Amino acid sequence: MTGRLIVLSNRIPTGGPPSGGLVVAIHELLAKRGGLWIGSGDDFADTPSEEFQPLEGGDGYDKAIFELTEAEYGEFYLGYANSVLWPLCHHRTDLISFDRRYAEGYAAVNARVARMLARIIQPDDTIWVHDYHFLPVAYELRKLGVTARVGLFLHIPFPTLPDIQALPEREDFYYWLAAFDLVGLQTEADVARCLESYRAHRAGEMLFDGCLKYHEDVFEVRSFPIGIDGETFASLAAKPPPHDPVHIRDDTKLIIGVDRLDYSKGIPHRVRGFGKWLETRSPDTPRATLIQITPPSRETVNAYKDIARELEALVGHLNGRYADLDWTPIRLIERPLPREVIAPLYRMAHVALVTPLADGMNLVAKEYVAAQDPEDPGVLILSRSAGAAEQMTEALLVNPHDSEEVAEAIQQALLMPLAERRARYAALMQVVRDTDIFDWGETFLDRLNGIDRKTLLAMASGRS
Ligand code: G6P
Repeated sequence: MTGRLIVLSNRIPTGGPPSGGLVVAIHELLAKRGGLWIGSGDDFADTPSEEFQPLEGGDGYDKAIFELTEAEYGEFYLGYANSVLWPLCHHRTDLISFDRRYAEGYAAVNARVARMLARIIQPDDTIWVHDYHFLPVAYELRKLGVTARVGLFLHIPFPTLPDIQALPEREDFYYWLAAFDLVGLQTEADVARCLESYRAHRAGEMLFDGCLKYHEDVFEVRSFPIGIDGETFASLAAKPPPHDPVHIRDDTKLIIGVDRLDYSKGIPHRVRGFGKWLETRSPDTPRATLIQITPPSRETVNAYKDIARELEALVGHLNGRYADLDWTPIRLIERPLPREVIAPLYRMAHVALVTPLADGMNLVAKEYVAAQDPEDPGVLILSRSAGAAEQMTEALLVNPHDSEEVAEAIQQALLMPLAERRARYAALMQVVRDTDIFDWGETFLDRLNGIDRKTLLAMASGRS
């Protein structure tokens, strides 16, 4: 790579050191290579500037933000990104808000960010765009004559063909992605859905080895399963907490769930599965407490308010029915806890319930495994609908909608012999090592920088 690396993501750490898997990985990548990281600012502007505003604290690279008005935040972020594209990609087209102002705001913000980028991009720079907030950005850049390599990594699931039909801007959607040089997805199943959607389009053609042609554009689609920095997480987990953070009786097992409060995470379904286990557990099974840590998210969007109410009612109902003087079956914590607390908690937990209804990858699954004591590891119960299930096949895989299956998996996990726990842990830990977050970034950029769009186009037109 000769030019500069420019990363665009909606979230950017604006104060203090970065925390959280992806943000840390981008930080490390940029610290090593140098470059520029652009994200959205925390404060609203009355009239957004047409220039990026520099941010302090890049540590070996530059950071800058683009500004949004309050109305744009509503249309671009809460609206099109999180009330149209998010439900679309998580198989909840029933939750899409069909409000044309959202599409207009999304288009306007992406066009402005592209204009601002076009002014600073040099032809040999590499631009790496993250996630569904910026699907049109490469298309807008090409209109402005930018020829530099532009790659997208979509962190969330690629939508199914029938779901794409629900999108009013479905024709634009095909053009948006085709303007990137490389579209990176989490899993092979995502790649299959993407290839299928273009193959089914009259203007799309499947070329060879993950290459697609759409009208006059040629681009590549590949999976780059994201991971974590397993080593750092494992050492964080191994630090003993200064005092017992949970205070449960020695004869009570600990089950943990950690998710943003989001309908895609299937938290009420999980609680119902745990409720089924409470209802059906045999007298010789130990008691268990489920600690569910659920920081609120996108709180002004109605679908998110509804899920909070549903969850609270369910937890209240089950605790009322099954609690004892010395046992509360479910502890719901509706706020984030620091990683320094979460990591040892994972290590203490006998079981983790990671049961999303749809999820790009789900890094909690990988963090839980990395946090375990190899001599006495806990058991991961993982939804088949999480991207992680494509690799983490030694977890207890469940259908998150099926309460009985979830209850049976809890029972199996709580009674699992040590030898089986160790064998499953060893296989899962190998997956964590194989998908190390630092290799992930390098692999994506190497592939992007190896793409020769002109040759691909020539090959594609030679065929037709
Ligand atoms: C998912 C998305 C990220 C997003 C994160 C938190 O992981 O893939 O792009 O940053 O959720 O959501 P938020 O809306 O709070 O940024």
